[in-house]
Amino acid sequence: MSSKLDLSKEFIGRRALVTGGSRGIGAAIAQRLLDAGAKVVVAARSRSDVTPAAATFISGDVRTSEGVKAIAAEALAALGGLDILVNNAGGSRGFLGGSPTIPDEEWQDTLALNLLAAVRLTNAVLPALRASKAAAVVNISSTAATIPYGPFAHYCAAKAALDTYSRTLAVELASSGVRVNVVTPGPVATPSADELRKTFTDGMGIPADAFVQQVPLGRLGTTDDVVEVVALLASDRGRWLTGGNYRVDGGMTAR
Ligand SMILES: NC(=O)c1ccc[n+]([C@@H]2O[C@H](COP(=O)([O-])OP(=O)(O)OC[C@H]3O[C@@H](n4cnc5c(N)ncnc54)[C@H](OP(=O)(O)O)[C@@H]3O)[C@@H](O)[C@H]2O)c1
Repeated sequence: MSSKLDLSKEFIGRRALVTGGSRGIGAAIAQRLLDAGAKVVVAARSRSDVTPAAATFISGDVRTSEGVKAIAAEALAALGGLDILVNNAGGSRGFLGGSPTIPDEEWQDTLALNLLAAVRLTNAVLPALRASKAAAVVNISSTAATIPYGPFAHYCAAKAALDTYSRTLAVELASSGVRVNVVTPGPVATPSADELRKTFTDGMGIPADAFVQQVPLGRLGTTDDVVEVVALLASDRGRWLTGGNYRVDGGMTAR
């Protein structure tokens, strides 16, 4: 009999909450967890035609404390506990005039979505995570955390803060068995990110493939490229991994 781990069953019995799981990277993460047997709740403001049908959908806005509290309560009620939390909801608008032109309300909105949502949601579900025998938090950051882009200064700063928060939390929670890791995607092909990159390259008058040119492996990432690393960190295969930041960027930040 083979002792090889059967990855197609590794999440049986696990309960997962994926924010921003209605489309893009989050939907792919949710589907990967479902495919390997997890019970999954996805939270977003609205469904899309790629929202995994087998997931329980919760409609909510993660930018406010009230929104986060409601999502946490509904998710815990649906799942009866929690083993895996993926703080994936994120993004921002770009301001071609650079950081001095980013309005105050955009800073607040971007920090709320990319930083505070993860802080608030993790705190809200922490008792459930502490009660789990296999608790894992995966926060989705961005290479923007370490590569300066003036038009996205608010997003860069929010993701950098998310990275440091995650490391801090990982050390704090290690003794209770809750692992916390970060996955840092480079440019990944999703409809919304593709549109954002096009607005950026058009607006800056730079070649349409400017982002691909920055990737040593010579292509944009796919959602599947990201999903496998998230699955590793969320699973028992990642049992000695905490406080890490795993770059899935085709070598972009290795230069
Ligand atoms: N794609 C890339 O190139 C790339 C690169 C680096 C990092 N990332 C990071 O990866 C994550 C996913 O990116 P993506 O490209 O998959 O994004 P996406 O396709 O735009 O999906 C974003 C998801 O978050 C949800 N969301 C957005 N605002 C929300 C809010 N206020 N409350 C609740 N849910 C909200 C969206 O649903 P609703 O709009 O219906 O709420 C959607 O489900 C983000 O954290 C992003 O910063 C992406």
